[in-house]
Parts: sequence; C-alpha cells; structure tokens
Amino acid sequence: VDTPLARKDVSLCCVHCGRKYPFSLQFQCDACGGLIDPVYNLEGCKIGESSKPLERYFYLVPFQQLSSAVSLREGNTPCIHAKNLGKRVGLSHLYLKNETLNPTRTTKDRMASCVLSVFQELDIREFVASSTGNSSSSFAFGIHQVTHMEVHLFCGRDFLYRHAYCDHPRVHLHVIDGDFVQAGKAAQKFAREQGLLFEGGFFNFARREGLKLAYFEAFDQLPEEPAVIVQAVSSGMGMYGAYKGVQEYQQLGRMKGTPRFVCAQQKSCAPMYQAFIEGSATIQPHHIIHHPRGIAEAILRGDPTRTYPYLYNIVTATKGCFAAVSQSEILEAHALLQETEGIDVCYASATAVAAAFHLLHQGWLQPTEVILVNLTGGVRV
Ligand SMILES: Cc1ncc(COP(=O)(O)O)c(C=O)c1O
Ligand SMILES: [Zn+2]
Repeated sequence: VDTPLARKDVSLCCVHCGRKYPFSLQFQCDACGGLIDPVYNLEGCKIGESSKPLERYFYLVPFQQLSSAVSLREGNTPCIHAKNLGKRVGLSHLYLKNETLNPTRTTKDRMASCVLSVFQELDIREFVASSTGNSSSSFAFGIHQVTHMEVHLFCGRDFLYRHAYCDHPRVHLHVIDGDFVQAGKAAQKFAREQGLLFEGGFFNFARREGLKLAYFEAFDQLPEEPAVIVQAVSSGMGMYGAYKGVQEYQQLGRMKGTPRFVCAQQKSCAPMYQAFIEGSATIQPHHIIHHPRGIAEAILRGDPTRTYPYLYNIVTATKGCFAAVSQSEILEAHALLQETEGIDVCYASATAVAAAFHLLHQGWLQPTEVILVNLTGGVRV
C-alpha cells in the first residue's frame, strides 16, 4: 500500500521570462511583471484516493505539506451527461460539471480552500480581499474552518446582498459607497496602509490552482475527453487554471487532445469578446465598460485589461473563442436547464450554457462533439 506523500517541493516560475522563484507569495515577476505559476515535479506524480480534492491532487497543488490542506468540504461535485437538455437543443454529448453543489454554492470554494492552505503554510494570519460576492463568501466561509486567520472583505454597496457567511468575529466586511472596481481599489489601499497582504485576485496562483481542481475532477469523471470546454469569465482565473490543468494532464499522459476553450460573457458586459472579435490581443480603452449592468452579476467586470492577454493566448492556442450572449439567451438557458435537468444555476452559469447553444446555432460547435460546461455557481438562499 502506498503511503500518501506528506511533503513535496514547489517552485515558482514566471510564465513570460522563465525566471524561477522559491516557494513564496510571489505573484508577479520582479524582472518582467509576468504572471507566476507554480511548477510541480510530475515524475512519480500520483492521483490519490482521498475524498478531499486538495489531498487527492496533492502533487498538483501549490502548498508543500499535506498537513497544510484546509478543507471547506468542497468538491466531489457531479459531472453529468445532460441527455435531456442535450436532446432539446441538439447536443448529444453535453456534460455539465455541477459546481453549484459546493458548500457555498459556487466553484469559488475550491479557490478559497487552496488559498487558505497556502496562507496557512506560509503563516499568513490576516489578509484583504474583494470580489463581486462569490469569492468573498467562499473566503468568509473558509475562515470559519481555520482557527488563526482573519480576513477583511471589501464590497460595493450594491453587491452587499451577495456576501454570505460574513457574520463571524474573524471576518471583517467593509462596505464601500461605490461599485466593485472602487471596492477593489479601497481594499488595496487599506492593505497598504495597514501593512496587510492583499490576496491578489487573478494574480494569486493559489486561486487559479484551486479552481483547476474542478477540471481535474471532471476529466477523471468524463467517459471521454472533452473537445470543448465552456465557462463564464470575469477575470478568467478559472479558465486559466483549467488550461494549466489540461497541460499537466497531458504531461502525465492522462489526456491526449487539447479542448477548445470557450470564454462566455453577457453582451451587456463583454469587453473580452469585443477585443477578441476585433483581433486585439489586449483590451483597448474603447472595450472597457465603465458602469457594467447585466443579470449575470458574478461576471460584471467591465475592465479586464490586466488579465485578458493571458486569456487571449489560451483561447488562441486552443483554437477556442470568446462568446457573448444576450439576456434573453441567458434566461432561456436558465429555464431550460431547470426544466430538463432540474438544476438551478445563477445567471453566470446560465451564460456559459447559453454560449454553448449559441455556438451550436452558429455552426462553431458540432452536434456530436463532447462539450463540458462548468456550472460555476448556483443560488444561495
Ligand atoms: C459563478 C461564477 N462563475 C464564473 C465566474 C468567473 O470568474 P473568473 O473568470 O474570475 O474565474 C465567477 C467569478 O466571480 C463566478 O462567481
Ligand atoms: Zn519574468
């Protein structure tokens, strides 16, 4: 019987210039500003048996000691063959990863469990974060599960109702008169002034690596390899993690092909889609949406300037695309999913489902292709 590995070395590497860093909270390269990814020694890498995803995929997550793993009881969500929905719309191999069944109802619990594990290992006792609600709720819920950590969460007043689990002595919720962008700025200012760690959002590799595990699970559950992967994007950290996961599974011989990556946005806030259809590898000022509105609130990010170039590269490398869908397409996908599969999702998830239907109608997707749609979030009651 194999005893599980208790410790491994993780190194960090700049994705632009290749500069190496020791394991630490280095989020961007000192030399070139590039994104930092953790790199694992894949030799001897095994997928374990634990029911806890961070332990099961321990070789492929960014903390060095198994004992650092923090569990939010996240993961192990079903990946279903949506036969009824597929029949209705004409997709014979439509698979849905149902991340709405995570403890706080979103895939962000995987983000929080991984970040808190890394913070625990590096003895971070207090940090600052902000989000449109789901990530912050996952952090707040996660704080309940650890004993010596405090979090300061910043949110715009309009997004306050989207923040759950904040009623806890070690969760400090700061409500800002402003939107999500202003809340993010206030969070960074507060962190600077108080000498606290700002957790980094998209740039925090532990966030991306945690989200990756939804895809490892899905790949392990699927009876066949996906030809296409669809997810709603805000910053794109989930899709970034997914792509790194695909590359790791390929290196491990667990996956042969490269699925086409589809990043889904709602038409009323689709800066990435706009840039992409103009053939632009960067967000330009006219792509930015200054006061974004739309029913898919979790993905109301009007200015993805700093993260889009990474997503553009992934979409291009995988021969994927960005897609934008209308409110009526989102509402229809939402209702169809409920009616045919009995799954209640948030409108960000419905955006991803609608994008798959949209691309089928456009002929970009073929009816028999294996499609994996990540239902990233549900509704908290
Ligand atoms: C339910 C849900 N789906 C998708 C996303 C997209 O997130 P990102 O593109 O930053 O990974 C979010 C982000 O908050 C979310 O809450
Ligand atoms: Zn660099």
